[in-house]
Amino acid sequence: MSEAKKTVFIKTYGCQMNVYDSDRMADVLAREGYRPVESPEGADLVVLNTCHIREKAAEKVYSEVGRLKPLKEHARKAGRTMQIAVAGCVAQAEGEEIVARAPIVDAVIGPQSYHRLLAVLARAAQGQSAIDTDFPDEDKFDHLPKIGGNGTAAAGQNGPVSAFLTVQEGCDKFCTFCVVPYTRGAEASRPVEQIVSEAERHIARGAREIMLLGQNVNAYHGAGLDGGDWPLARLLARLSDIPDLERLRYTTSHPRDMSDDLIAAHRDLPRLMPYLHLPVQSGSDRILAAMNRQHSADDYRRLVERLRQARPDLALSGDFIVGFPGESDTDFDETMRLVADIGYAQAYSFKYSPRPGTPAADAADQVPDPVKAERLQRLQELLQAQQTAFNAAMHGRTMDVLLEKPGRRPGQLVGRSPWLQAVHVDAPADIIGTIVPVRIETIGANSLFGSLTGPAAARSGQASDRDAIGAIA
Ligand code: SAH
Ligand code: SF4
Ligand code: F3S
Repeated sequence: MSEAKKTVFIKTYGCQMNVYDSDRMADVLAREGYRPVESPEGADLVVLNTCHIREKAAEKVYSEVGRLKPLKEHARKAGRTMQIAVAGCVAQAEGEEIVARAPIVDAVIGPQSYHRLLAVLARAAQGQSAIDTDFPDEDKFDHLPKIGGNGTAAAGQNGPVSAFLTVQEGCDKFCTFCVVPYTRGAEASRPVEQIVSEAERHIARGAREIMLLGQNVNAYHGAGLDGGDWPLARLLARLSDIPDLERLRYTTSHPRDMSDDLIAAHRDLPRLMPYLHLPVQSGSDRILAAMNRQHSADDYRRLVERLRQARPDLALSGDFIVGFPGESDTDFDETMRLVADIGYAQAYSFKYSPRPGTPAADAADQVPDPVKAERLQRLQELLQAQQTAFNAAMHGRTMDVLLEKPGRRPGQLVGRSPWLQAVHVDAPADIIGTIVPVRIETIGANSLFGSLTGPAAARSGQASDRDAIGAIA
């Protein structure tokens, strides 16, 4: 490792996998002596880890690069260099166009090349072409530093209570609206052994929950401990055996890959949390077919029914696209009907955004923006009402909360319910990382507020401090 103490500011856009990747890039950079900082001012390197999923996501990157221009200029005048690297899915999709449009960008690196980040930056420093958007033959995971290992950004420190762990990457589904198969490449799964060892490293650093990540996580089929391919259900069962790993989650799943053994895992594995993100995108069979989702709305209804039979308290989350090309009022009504039938605890919904290079972008029957806007508003009102009702039903209940970190007020901690709701509670900091029973007393717009019950409450002496609870609701 070089002696020089350089600093890097990493800004992350997009999905949880980008959050995971940013940490991995920080680890690679630590090998060269880079220390992460919280702002781009004065940083030697700025990495923008970008998302390409919708038009706005990509445009944000170019405005951010524009904002960095005076900082880079300032560094140059002071005799320093500030390198700017664009990573992530915009990097992969646009490659050298980025440098053509924003010449102050020094390096462009796609998600499958992060183990080569230092080499790319070195080429940039020498004024050579520094664009690496290959899908290399070697597996980046074999070359990335181990989580929390010597010389990484977080060596010797505790990690998060809830840690992300990428187990599968890429997508072969080619939904007609989506860039992911082009930006992340073909579906690939990490071997079970590598995942178990990474999970154990997280646990040793204080994690109690692991969120397995993949663009199609339930299509996971990695090399198992017995030499054969293991599906996600078997991986979950193996991870469930790790002592001190209290909670497991996985995201994002495709309805088509929700296999019988995975449904059974929701019944059989108590550590698998009763919350599932299962995007359906639309409730219209015509639109689902045009999207190449390869299932019907009723297939999805039946699937949810089977999941709820396996785990009656399972809460669902989803993604929806409104205004996909050709979507009529009747198609949209079908989406509203499906949402009403399912009842979501939480969901994301978007206006369809045509992405260059995807089949739907060329469809003739694009839906006008005002129509998309009106549909989105109606859908979001319904989804919001469902979320509010789901949260309101928690009032007065006592639930297990995994305490993750200090809250916004001194003396307050924030954690997660089994259903991924943020829960604020007055509690001493030394019980961060434990699961405690919390009685829910106030329902906020985006989180719940409660007080400790049981032994932890007696110890903290704060269970009756009711005035404080909900003060910031
Ligand atoms: N792999 C996941 C989704 C990944 S992208 C799945 O198959 O469900 C996250 C979400 O972004 C998608 O579920 C979709 O709702 C939304 N999305 C993707 N492409 C989009 C586009 N072109 N316009 C609007 N929303 C889009
Ligand atoms: Fe995109 Fe479809 Fe793949 Fe999900 S399954 S990442 S929406 S192509
Ligand atoms: Fe965005 Fe790439 Fe994730 S496009 S949603 S950062 S996989």
